[in-house]
Amino acid sequence: MTPFDRLIGFIGAGNMAEAFIGAIIGSGLLPPAGLCAADVDADRLRTLADRYGIATYADNFQVYASCDLVVLAVKPQQMQAVLTGIAGHDRYGAPRRKLILSIAAGYPLAKIAAVLYPPLDEHGRKNLPIVRVMPNTPALVLTAMSGMSANRYATAEDLDDARRLLEAVGKVVTFPEKDLDAVTALSGSGPAYVFYLAEALIAAGVRVGLSRADAELLTVTTLKGAVKLLETTGESAEALRRKVTSPGGTTEAAVKVFEARGFKPTIIEAIGAAAKRAEELSR
Ligand SMILES: NC(=O)c1ccc[n+]([C@@H]2O[C@H](COP(=O)([O-])OP(=O)(O)OC[C@H]3O[C@@H](n4cnc5c(N)ncnc54)[C@H](OP(=O)(O)O)[C@@H]3O)[C@@H](O)[C@H]2O)c1
Repeated sequence: MTPFDRLIGFIGAGNMAEAFIGAIIGSGLLPPAGLCAADVDADRLRTLADRYGIATYADNFQVYASCDLVVLAVKPQQMQAVLTGIAGHDRYGAPRRKLILSIAAGYPLAKIAAVLYPPLDEHGRKNLPIVRVMPNTPALVLTAMSGMSANRYATAEDLDDARRLLEAVGKVVTFPEKDLDAVTALSGSGPAYVFYLAEALIAAGVRVGLSRADAELLTVTTLKGAVKLLETTGESAEALRRKVTSPGGTTEAAVKVFEARGFKPTIIEAIGAAAKRAEELSR
């Protein structure tokens, strides 16, 4: 992989930041010397410095000032304080180009710009493009699905850099920002729906007489196998389902119950509710 030519810094050095740091170093995108992180938790910083050999700072502004790509990886409720701390710093400015990439769930581009842009003139704003990303927890195992949106100052090169960074932990698709609520509802919250389905399948396995350990193994392996078929055969989910549903067979007996109980409409309604909630939370 061609190494990255921007220094990357993380503000907030929690679970997501660590997933990115491990993936960036592991994939060869940047060596540890190209990365740094800041956090309020000194123990956390020591752990990351020991584990990855990256520079760490107690001061968020140090990361902002020294990096070309600044990842905001704090919780959404911590974002306002973090942004105000940066924009209120007496050395704040954007004399050289810097890409801000926020992974804070439900935190709109406009809210970030509302703090970072007022102290800057137009030249400074152009130098400080912002990208908002909605990743999901499988980033922790390098299988993330991320959606990203950029503001008007981001160039094709900025988007390409953001994409390369996000591809270190999985896949990424670019969307208009209004679609990020749908992304949040489908892939952001999606892992929880799969865990919920897994919980139900395990409980069902136990109900039909299996041990819990066997029900867990059968469930996890079946989910993995089904996903692999979806990924490798090129066939639609519906076509694959029909193939294993013989008339009068066992699968059909189960699917009849799903249909009688409105399984598919329930899922569609649930994800609609998640998208509506994402829209409310990101106002
Ligand atoms: N986890 C996911 O799957 C997922 C998916 C999509 C989006 N996201 C987003 O990713 C972001 C990070 O999530 P996470 O799971 O990595 O959270 P996390 O583990 O809580 O990491 C956030 C880190 O930031 C630190 N912090 C708090 N206030 C700070 C400040 N003012 N300056 C610097 N650092 C500060 C926290 O320290 P303390 O713990 O001491 O407060 C913590 O170490 C969130 O905005 C979340 O919405 C996460």
